[in-house]
Amino acid sequence: MSEQNNFKIKTAVLTISDKGSRGERKDLSGPVIKEMMENIGAEIVYEEIIADEKAEIEETLSRIADQKKADLILTTGGTGFAKRDITPEATLAVIEKEVPGIPEKIRADTISITPQAALSRARAGIRKQTLIINFPGSPKAVRECLEAVIEIIPHGVKILKGEITEHQHSHKNK
Ligand code: MTE
Repeated sequence: MSEQNNFKIKTAVLTISDKGSRGERKDLSGPVIKEMMENIGAEIVYEEIIADEKAEIEETLSRIADQKKADLILTTGGTGFAKRDITPEATLAVIEKEVPGIPEKIRADTISITPQAALSRARAGIRKQTLIINFPGSPKAVRECLEAVIEIIPHGVKILKGEITEHQHSHKNK
């Protein structure tokens, strides 16, 4: 990226999976997010595996944002059509501003890899000074989807945190 990067994005990784939370399935997707974010210099400040329970997801997202634990929360799982999939609804319940362009770019960029990209109901939005982005559950999907937005995340987070002022917020780096 062309932007100076002495600002470390404090990132929380939340895996949302009934089986994962019971220890019946190894979480391979959280580690993909971790590795990709560390590669761009982010600091992983929080990791958890929780069940597909709307109240628990809402509580966890709100707590991380309200206590300013992280600038960015990346969730994986629970975005599809299965009965228990509830991550997008829990996310919508806690965000104050929706950021539709992020999932739009993810689906637009990855639909050529797999048409099933259209089956993810993932959302993104802002609560206080924390950006929350949903990703699907499989490690392959996470890798493809995060790849689609990883370059734009730092700029968005910096604006959200006031690290980039209106004045600096030009397009001179293009
Ligand atoms: N997006 C990309 N880029 N690549 C994928 O392999 N898998 C899809 C979709 N999004 C996929 C993807 C599939 S098969 C499903 S069912 C939905 O994400 C929802 O996944 P989730 O329920 O694990 O969140």
